[in-house]
Amino acid sequence: MKNLLLALPLLAALSIHTPANAQSPQSVAGLPHAAAEQTNRPVRFEAAIGVTEGSLVLPLASEADLAQRGAGLDDATRAGISAALQSADFKYAAGSSVSLRGVGPWRRVLVVGLGESAEEAAFQTAGAAAGKALMREAGAVTILGAGLSPMQAASVATGFGLGEYRADIYATTKRQPSATDRVTVVVNDLAAATQLFTTQGEALVKAVAWTRDISNEPANVVYPEVFVERTRKAFAGLPGVRIEVLDTAAMERLGMGAILGVGRGSQRGPRMLVVRYTGAGAADSAPVVLAGKGITFDSGGISLKPSANMGDMKFDMSGAAIVTGTALSLARSRAPVNVVAIAALAENMPDAAAIRPGDILRAMNGLTIEIGSTDAEGRLVLADALAWADAELKPAAIVDVATLTGAIVVALGDDYAGLFSRHDALAQQIEAASKRTGEGVWRMPLHESYAKDLASDYADMKNSASGPGGGIGAHFIGEFVSKDTPWAHIDIAGVVYGKGSDVSSAGSAAWGVRLLDRFVRDFTPVAEVGQ
Ligand code: BES
Ligand code: ZN
Ligand code: MN
Repeated sequence: MKNLLLALPLLAALSIHTPANAQSPQSVAGLPHAAAEQTNRPVRFEAAIGVTEGSLVLPLASEADLAQRGAGLDDATRAGISAALQSADFKYAAGSSVSLRGVGPWRRVLVVGLGESAEEAAFQTAGAAAGKALMREAGAVTILGAGLSPMQAASVATGFGLGEYRADIYATTKRQPSATDRVTVVVNDLAAATQLFTTQGEALVKAVAWTRDISNEPANVVYPEVFVERTRKAFAGLPGVRIEVLDTAAMERLGMGAILGVGRGSQRGPRMLVVRYTGAGAADSAPVVLAGKGITFDSGGISLKPSANMGDMKFDMSGAAIVTGTALSLARSRAPVNVVAIAALAENMPDAAAIRPGDILRAMNGLTIEIGSTDAEGRLVLADALAWADAELKPAAIVDVATLTGAIVVALGDDYAGLFSRHDALAQQIEAASKRTGEGVWRMPLHESYAKDLASDYADMKNSASGPGGGIGAHFIGEFVSKDTPWAHIDIAGVVYGKGSDVSSAGSAAWGVRLLDRFVRDFTPVAEVGQ
């Protein structure tokens, strides 16, 4: 109570900076309330089949797998499944499935394909197919993992949790609730599988759901201040976590004219959110910095976007969500790493106060920027985020993640994110994590010639170019990191949201949380100087 009273005069003083019509998270009338929360069925691991009712899940790479995986089933059930697979001409491709009813005592039997890859990603994908298919299926679920390694079995269970995610949390009619009955995974090495799932799998499931939720939220619900609040809530009580928030006044003191310029056209002020997580024994190592573009809505600003699909620009904060979600996964699983997630948050809106094409901004590192297009705003918020991280944190590496360009969507579609780096040794570590987690990256060039495309007659550079190269945005961002800080940029515009599939829901894919989680865990310092 005493603290509250002391804080009151301070709050009154701060409110002078707030426009009269600005909306605070607490005071908005008529905002929708989510009708439902995400739920996951509880998971446990057992050495043998318990109840023979409900749904049975069989992850198989070939017909030959059935004997081993289904060793605990009676002969008639196994023969029935085998006959059904043959008549369905099942190909065992990763994520494909066949659903059978009326086999043995089971209400439903779901055979999910593992494909040919031995990577954990394939086992996650198979689990996700089951999680998605059985999300609303009442009754117990038994997953047969006999013959799988602990990592493979834990990955199937993790995938199941990822597949249970649903985007329709605001739907109030016709929404069938998710089933809550237990999942039992039958495995050989009970202790090891349980350990892997409870230390890493569960944390990843929760962090990916958090990332998807905050990305799927509309821009009238999640704006910079709300992003910060939800982050505080998600990390509350986790050891080794420190959260710092730079508000408008703090960013003004630091000279962050680029992100402040982007935020100027919105009633909702920009924020720079810094989440530090230091695991046990990792305090002495330099941090890996993950910085994300956090445009809670990108209208284009005065360089207004066309209206078709403009609603998708609520996903323009996905980079920020992914880096924060990665830190959440690492912190929840108590990983022994030193990581800093930076969310560069702003809303890009047209308004009387908005920046205009032709305006000149000054970033924190002193570089002046002529605005060619107010729609090239992602590189502006990242400019200040990266300049700050480079100066403040002495990072071992910086990786930024952004829905930066439409050009990367044209170049790579939704199969690969674009990876740009001057540091081959860093790019290779990202590619290795990509291979293991199945989140694809494709290396793109960072050519020196991009510099002249950004030349300005009035300032140090422009934020958009007349030239056609889509990699120019990456080059721009690189101007705000010193050449010997290992740095990579990942453009996720094509991969991070979509229509959904047999293994994932519509909306945010939280692409990159798995990749970055793996990358940070496996990171080894890069000695090489950038080209
Ligand atoms: N957020 C967009 C990029 C984007 C496009 C993301 C499509 C997802 C799907 C970004 O801020 C943008 O508008 N980029 C411009 C840059 C241009 C003005 C230099 C683009 O790519 O057209
Ligand atoms: Zn954008
Ligand atoms: Mn834009």
